[in-house]
Amino acid sequence: MIIRPLTARDRDRILEIVTATGNFTPQEIAVALEVIDDALAGDPEYLVNVLEADPGRVVGYECHGPTPLTEGTWDLYWIAVDPAAQGGGFGRALLEHAERDVRARDGRLLLIETSSQESYGATIRFYERCGYPLMARIKEFYRPGDDKLIFGRALRPAEALEKSR
Ligand SMILES: CC(C)(COP(=O)(O)OP(=O)(O)OC[C@H]1O[C@@H](n2cnc3c(N)ncnc32)[C@H](O)[C@@H]1OP(=O)(O)O)[C@@H](O)C(=O)NCCC(=O)NCCS
Repeated sequence: MIIRPLTARDRDRILEIVTATGNFTPQEIAVALEVIDDALAGDPEYLVNVLEADPGRVVGYECHGPTPLTEGTWDLYWIAVDPAAQGGGFGRALLEHAERDVRARDGRLLLIETSSQESYGATIRFYERCGYPLMARIKEFYRPGDDKLIFGRALRPAEALEKSR
């Protein structure tokens, strides 16, 4: 398994993966692709990495970036694993990779926003299992009955981690 930065050749495969998850609306898929295109164009707001389970076989990706107008707060914007490969630790590996990158860039807080809809239940359990407790809830944010949930984790800087080893 390797995790490497996005290249233009990954675009179609990422579209396949986000579509296959069944979790995203057409509008959300369009936004996911816009973000991929921005990242490919070199936009520093979006850092995207893909995971190859075997050489050349991309099964997931993640996108994170610095939260505008903050010092050291970052957002995980997207994370998705091909349903055929879910449950194999790839999502966790992608999230840990994003954490290492954020630490290396002096980030101290990584946030993940999601919806309270039933269809996100599995994703919520994934965040909690990966050490991201619920930090905030904005009721009825997306639409009546659909809250915005913000999960988060304080990250120690890479330097402090080195010293504690
Ligand atoms: C969320 C997602 C990325 C997780 O990827 P994954 O590769 O299946 O997750 P992993 O195998 O690395 O699981 C990591 C941990 O989460 C837990 N977990 C994952 N899916 C779970 C589920 N459906 N129910 C309960 N726990 C779950 C695993 O048990 C594991 O915990 P453990 O290591 O303590 O046993 C994947 O399910 C996905 O792509 N979902 C659809 C897209 C989505 O909703 N993305 C987030 C919004 S941008």
